[in-house]
Formats: sequence, C-alpha cells, structure tokens
Amino acid sequence: MVQQMEQMYEGKAKIVYKTDDPNLLIQHFKDSATAFDGKKKGEIKEKGVANAAIAATLFGVLEAAGIKTHFHEMLNDRDMLIDNLKMIQLEAVARNIAAGSLAKRLGYEEGVVLKKPVVEFYYKRDDLGDPIITCQHVQELGLVNEDEFKTIRDLSFKVNDVLGRFFNERGLDLIDMKLEFGWDKDGQLVLGDEISPDTCRFWDTATGEKLDKDRFRRDLGGVEEAYVEVLRRVTA
Ligand code: TMP
Ligand code: ASP
Repeated sequence: MVQQMEQMYEGKAKIVYKTDDPNLLIQHFKDSATAFDGKKKGEIKEKGVANAAIAATLFGVLEAAGIKTHFHEMLNDRDMLIDNLKMIQLEAVARNIAAGSLAKRLGYEEGVVLKKPVVEFYYKRDDLGDPIITCQHVQELGLVNEDEFKTIRDLSFKVNDVLGRFFNERGLDLIDMKLEFGWDKDGQLVLGDEISPDTCRFWDTATGEKLDKDRFRRDLGGVEEAYVEVLRRVTA
C-alpha cells in the first residue's frame, strides 16, 4: 500500500500528492469548479466522487483498447493512484460537433455536426488564457517535436473514436473533449489528467439535453444531477 506524502500541486478541481514511490502520485478529486479561467467559482456537490469514478471507468475502457493511461487504481472514492508523468504543457481538444469556442471561432451554430472529427491544440498557460496554437508554435516553444506532435494528434483521434463509441452505446453524444498527455519513466507517451463532465461535453442523444459542465458555466441548473446521470450511464 503506497503512503500519501506532501502535496505537490493544487489545481482548480484536483490536488496532486506525492507518495513514498517516486513513480506514483495520488490525484484527489475536489468538488470545486471554476470556469472562464477561474473568473467564475463554485462548488458542485459530490462532483469529485462522480468525476473520479467516471474517469476511472473511462481510463479502463481506453486501456482495454490498447491506449496507455496514467491510471492505476482508486484508493477510495476521491483518490486515484496514477503514474508520475512529466506532463506536456498542451491541451488537445477533440471535437465531433460544434460547440463552445469552436462554434464561435468558425461562426457555426452549436450542434452542427463536423464533416469529420477535429483535434486542436492549446498552450496550457492560465496567465495567457490557454491560447490555441499550431504545430509550429508547439515546436517553437519546445514542448514536443514534430513526430511527437503527430503521435499526440493521432492518439487524441483514437481516444475520441473509442470513447465516442462507448458513449454512443449509452445514449450520449460526445461533443468534444480535452486531453492531456505526459511522459512516463520509460519515456512512453501516456494519457493523463482526467476525462469527466468537467473536461468533455456530453449531450443526451434522445433529448439533446446538456449533461456536462456547461450547466455550471451557463447557469442552466441541474448541475449535480447531470454529473450523477453521466456516472449512471458510464457505469451501467
Ligand atoms: P471550448 O469549446 O471552451 O474550447 O472547450 C472545449 C472542450 O474542452 C470542452 O469539452 C471543455 C474542455 N475544456 C477543458 O477541459 N478545460 C478548459 O480550460 C477549457 C477551456 C475547455
Ligand atoms: N476554463 C475552464 C473551463 O471552463 C475552467 C477554468 O479555466 O477556470 O472548463
């Protein structure tokens, strides 16, 4: 049994702790929620429990499809044992249906089905507002080289494909999702962070109802209920 050690980092929705094994960390899922680069703050009751269970299940689905993730096991209902990755300062966003910033950027109505999935990259820098960047910017910044960039892009499409089908079978449309990757101790590229209603958009296939953090961002009500409903579908 690993021992939890000092806190390494506190983010907006999670706290990461060191353990007595340098290759392992514990990521603790909080109920706090922010939006718009932290300008909007709140609590979503039991969100941490729902997101931890949703993420654990999805990491299992991806592992079964041959995609490496940082997930080891749940230690309790909020604490996830993970690989200690050297995180890449990038957010990869895979999109299937126009919503949020893509709808704004391309002048599309939300809900327009894209001709084919799109993967975008954002520079993970809160102080810059996480700007969208190109492959060449990624190399200029020295985040990863061109081959690594292509691998991350291909892996993002694969994650989107596997999870899109998984959610489809559960009556949810995967609109878009944000992914983060890192390097493990053997230099392998591994999917990290979390996959949850905080980091994805899910719409009910039958009704179109939003079942994700947009309910919090846009004050739509029924926020807790949406997270519980996604958990129910994912673990059904
Ligand atoms: P966007 O439409 O606001 O760019 O968001 C695209 C997806 O990425 C959406 O599912 C929410 C997720 N996301 C995050 O996980 N973190 C963020 O900081 C942002 C802006 C979006
Ligand atoms: N912008 C993020 C979101 O809406 C959260 C934040 O940056 O505070 O998911």
